[in-house]
Amino acid sequence: MSKIIIEGGQRLEGVVRVQGAKNAVLPILAATVINGGKNIIRDCPRLKDVKSSIDILKGLGCNVTWEGSTIIVDSENISTHHVPESLMREMRSSIMFLGAIVARCRKASISMPGGCELGPRPIDLHLKAFRQLGIKVDESHGYINCEVDDIKPDNIHLDFPSVGATENIMLVTVLSKGVTTINNAAKEPEIVDLQDYLNKMGAKISGAGTSVITIEGVDRLHNVEHCVIPDRIVASSFLAATAAAGGHVTLTNVVPEHIHPVVSVLKDCGFEVSSQADTVTIKAESRPLPINYIRTLPHPGFPTDAQAPIMSVLSVADGTSIIAENMFENRYKHVAELNRMGADIKVDGRIAVVKGVKRLSGTKVAATDLRGAAALIIAGLNAEGTTEVSGLCHLDRGYENFDEGLRALGANIKRID
Ligand code: EPZ
Repeated sequence: MSKIIIEGGQRLEGVVRVQGAKNAVLPILAATVINGGKNIIRDCPRLKDVKSSIDILKGLGCNVTWEGSTIIVDSENISTHHVPESLMREMRSSIMFLGAIVARCRKASISMPGGCELGPRPIDLHLKAFRQLGIKVDESHGYINCEVDDIKPDNIHLDFPSVGATENIMLVTVLSKGVTTINNAAKEPEIVDLQDYLNKMGAKISGAGTSVITIEGVDRLHNVEHCVIPDRIVASSFLAATAAAGGHVTLTNVVPEHIHPVVSVLKDCGFEVSSQADTVTIKAESRPLPINYIRTLPHPGFPTDAQAPIMSVLSVADGTSIIAENMFENRYKHVAELNRMGADIKVDGRIAVVKGVKRLSGTKVAATDLRGAAALIIAGLNAEGTTEVSGLCHLDRGYENFDEGLRALGANIKRID
């Protein structure tokens, strides 16, 4: 079984480039189904979830090549509107293919996406919007079957600013006749990137990044070439790693405004963080100060995906911090493992009380979800002695080179496959 071994205590110094955004490239790969043409997507990270999406595209009949960080999808010949359970189980966000396949084929049959380590991942908001758009949605035998003659554009109101539901509505209405509006839309930067991608394809979408998105359907779409935005959560993870280990690190390929919520917390921890056009620099020369109260919220609030990495920093703060995880029911599975490393964290429902200790101590820990895996590695950088992190299948879903990047910055870290 693969594991990462860290000898804690090394400061981090130097420069590291941040990968393209996983949560931008996944909906964009689904979007490649719609134009029936050529799609060139650059700066794609080499991740398990990207490979899962490519497997689904190939299963649909697309021709896909993946050279380095460039993926080329030719979706001229779609041979089926069906995505089997074996491919859907791989990754929850494959639900994005539902909207794209219906937009292209007017029907789709995909296996229910599994839950995941974060708890049940309902799709009721997606399906409620689809039904409002006139799509016949039938859920039976673990499959979602959709069929529609013509999408009925409408004014959709999302009960919750769901990222996936916002993206699915954008995808399914691109080729409709008329104007669809999404109210209470999610405002994540990855949604702006999807809008940019679809508009380059010939779509007419506006408002992404605000709570009202307007999609004016078009008759046809054309080939597209696009470079994916940087991954704001991977950037946040490298900043958290420096905060936990101490040091002076510059990240390149960053959009500073995408990480404002995390930078704000790191500044409140007493660290010096500065940014230029597409770089951000952190200087961590002292023990973190505690944070009274952090709430995870939809963007531009504090991102739920940065909760675990930042908790590792706060676990060695000079005082007690409180975190409220409002986005997912079960996103504290890294806490038990951090406590095995000597952290003093108590969880009560959505609240985690993090009483800082001077330093963590290395031991064997097991990751059980994507961002928890990064958090355990970050904790190992601080810990006295050796930390062994297993469960790297979770890390590989979202981080292309986290251990290599940290080693280049001076960490004593190695991966044994
Ligand atoms: C996206 O997931 C991201 N994944 C997640 O990143 C991220 O944590 C999440 O947005 C929130 O920012 C991708 O973009 C591939 P949601 P998504 O729909 O779309 C509930 C990572 O670590 N909900 O905004 O699934 C849902 O249960 C991953 O990179 C419904 O109740 O997030 C959750 O509690 C993890 N009904 C909340 O909304 C629905 O129909 C937020 O979900 C849809 C969602």
